[in-house]
Amino acid sequence: MTDTAFSLVKPELDSAHGIALWIADENLLNQTSRVNPTVTVISNRFDLCQQLQEAGWNSQFSDFDFSPYENHSVDKIIYRISKEKPVVHHVINQAIRILKPGGTLCISGLKNEGIKTYLDKAKKLFSGQMEQSKSDKNTWMGVLTSPGVPDTELLEDQDYTRLREVAADENFSYISKPGVYGWNKIDKGSAFLVAELPRFIERLPGPPQTALDLGCGYGYLSLNCAPTGCRITATDNNAGALQACKENFKQQGIDAEVIAADCAEEIVARFPLIVCNPPFHQGFGIEGDMTDRFLEAARKHLQTDGVACFVVNLHIPLERKAQKRFSIVETIADNGSFKLILLAQPK
Ligand SMILES: C[S@@+](CC[C@H](N)C(=O)[O-])C[C@H]1O[C@@H](n2cnc3c(N)ncnc32)[C@H](O)[C@@H]1O
Repeated sequence: MTDTAFSLVKPELDSAHGIALWIADENLLNQTSRVNPTVTVISNRFDLCQQLQEAGWNSQFSDFDFSPYENHSVDKIIYRISKEKPVVHHVINQAIRILKPGGTLCISGLKNEGIKTYLDKAKKLFSGQMEQSKSDKNTWMGVLTSPGVPDTELLEDQDYTRLREVAADENFSYISKPGVYGWNKIDKGSAFLVAELPRFIERLPGPPQTALDLGCGYGYLSLNCAPTGCRITATDNNAGALQACKENFKQQGIDAEVIAADCAEEIVARFPLIVCNPPFHQGFGIEGDMTDRFLEAARKHLQTDGVACFVVNLHIPLERKAQKRFSIVETIADNGSFKLILLAQPK
């Protein structure tokens, strides 16, 4: 599906020259554009970064880390806005820091994503120097010219780059940051899985030596598997999540591996225990795709006598989708909002 907001900003990408950055996030998966070799792409999504690298783009995987760029060193930044406000504010704030005076920030987005509010705020920060256009009544773009120094206070980005304690329970305190899935809370489904973890583990032939946390986020499930004594491998697609997860392991003195991957594709090992709270959607893709891809990753990485533990909302037809990949599919608990599904004997 074509993203009208990306289409609007695309000519700016094609014509960019000098030192130019394209800030790309999940909204842009599978959107195509002619490679502009002068542009550097920064993306916080491992899959998108890989996709763009394969297409020939010079692409960097980071949590929108602009620290390598000195003040007033960049000519142009192109950005189709992200879903989360702190991310958008962080990019706009960094743009005014790193753009040369007279350099331009081109941002586009849809009305229901709040583009008009973002444009108003950015316009104030850029001393009113903005040209606005639209391709239909829902799709807007602003081209802002940097005055050099911001005209007003920076936008509230919730201190985007700072890792901080965000939640605690009787077992751990958890570190996270904006830009990570459900960054400032413990996911209720994941808490349910942890409470019932012994019921999964008792189905194993012995204590698990290793475990895989598929889509680890800031590492909540990983941390809570660690007391079983197994060595954890945690993997995610999101740069901020991987950073927060590493920090949690470090703070808790847990020696674990943290791997950037799209649905564990970079990982070859098989595990006796897999824990997973899969994402519901993928950018503009269909919900079902992600569930299938996470199930397939679990099938590929589960040992023959291992157990995979999934937690999903009640309405997700995970069991039906799992049947063709596992001989044992059991819903072992349901709390009215979430269900816990045990998968074993990968086919
Ligand atoms: C529902 S969250 C669960 C996070 C964490 N396990 C927890 O329990 O709090 C799903 C996670 O899957 C990650 N994710 C989304 N797409 C992915 C992909 N293609 N490959 C790997 N991880 C992905 C997201 O970044 C997010 O951290």
